[in-house]
Parts: sequence; structure tokens; C-alpha cells
Amino acid sequence: MSAEQTLAGIASEISTCERCALHASRKLPVPGEGPARAEVMFIGEGPGFYENEQGRPFVGASGQFLSQLLAQAELRRSEVWIGNVVKCRPPGNRDPLPEEVAACGAFLDRQIETVNPSVIVTLGRCSLGRFLPGARIGSVHGTLRKSGGRYIIPMYPPADALTQSALKATILADFIKLPALLKEVRAELGKAASKPRQEYRKENLKQLSLF
Ligand code: URA
Repeated sequence: MSAEQTLAGIASEISTCERCALHASRKLPVPGEGPARAEVMFIGEGPGFYENEQGRPFVGASGQFLSQLLAQAELRRSEVWIGNVVKCRPPGNRDPLPEEVAACGAFLDRQIETVNPSVIVTLGRCSLGRFLPGARIGSVHGTLRKSGGRYIIPMYPPADALTQSALKATILADFIKLPALLKEVRAELGKAASKPRQEYRKENLKQLSLF
């Protein structure tokens, strides 16, 4: 079975999942999306209002901001895999409960195993806690870590920039560091460096009204 087929099978299981209470209030589950062999996986907390409506991750305001941040990291949204720790929307966008994270855990584990990314970027505390238990986002954001044989780069959730404007510059600075961190990972893994990507940043700078 190809990686695409495996991911489609996982998404299909998620669509009928009733392992936790979140299924009762979901409109659409949000399994995650992206190339089956993406080099980088971005893992957020859980779907919000628009994600629940559309069945796709990061499509609301924080998703638009994430797309801009990706361009600053010289990455196209279409070349990275984007998903969440929990696949159904926690009511009122509250943090997912430990039992919800646990119930959804096997889906995320299988998605990671299938995509087999070089790097996982965590977008939020709950996502960070799953890979680096006990780490504090304020201390580890924007740095390269290792956990369970994988490289992890913890980031603040993009939504924090929308609610705490003081964090915007920090989040942007962390994403701008991403190409250098990926280069470090590729060197350690012995993988070829990607082609220059500065043009993504230039295209995007025009839209990015951060300051
Ligand atoms: N949208 C998502 O899909 N996940 C988040 O964690 C936040 C917004």
C-alpha cells in the first residue's frame, strides 16, 4: 500500500471515529493534509470553527497567518503536512483534554509513521507536550530538539500572535530561523539541501502586515 493510501485509510477511520466525546459535536473531522512524504510536519492543537466547517486544518485567521509564516520560512504550504493533535473541534476552541489527546493519539502516531518527516514542528503547548513532555514553550520555542529519534522544533501557536500582539515578532523570528534549522537537520541526516527559496519570502512580504 502506498503512503497516500495509508493516509487516506487513516482519514477514513477518523471520519467515523467515536473514541472520545468530541465526535458528538463535530461537523467535519479534520484529519490533516499534505504530501504523503513531506519533509516537515506541522502539528497544531485541534480544529477551530472554520476547520470544523471545512474539514481542513488551519483555514481560519490563524491559518492565514500560518501560510504567511510558512512563506517567511521559505516553505510552500503545499509541500508540508499540516495536522493537529486532535482531529475534532473542542467546543469553544478550548484546549483538548488529556483523554481526547490520548483517544486521538494512535491516529497521529500512524500519520507520523507514514509520512516519516525529518522534522516535526509543534504549534502549541499541547502539541509540544506530546513530543517533549515537561518542556516550557517560553524556553524552547524556535530551537531544534530531539525526541523519540525525531527532530522537533517547538513554535508558539499562530493564534497567539492574533491575541497577544507582543508575540507576533517572536513568532515571525522563529519561522525565519526555520530554513537554517532545516539545513542543520539535512546536514545531520545527510540529505541534499533544497534549492534556494528566497523568492517565496519576497512574494509574501507584500502581504505580511506584522508591524
Ligand atoms: N487551526 C487548526 O487546525 N489547529 C489549531 O491548533 C489552530 C487552528
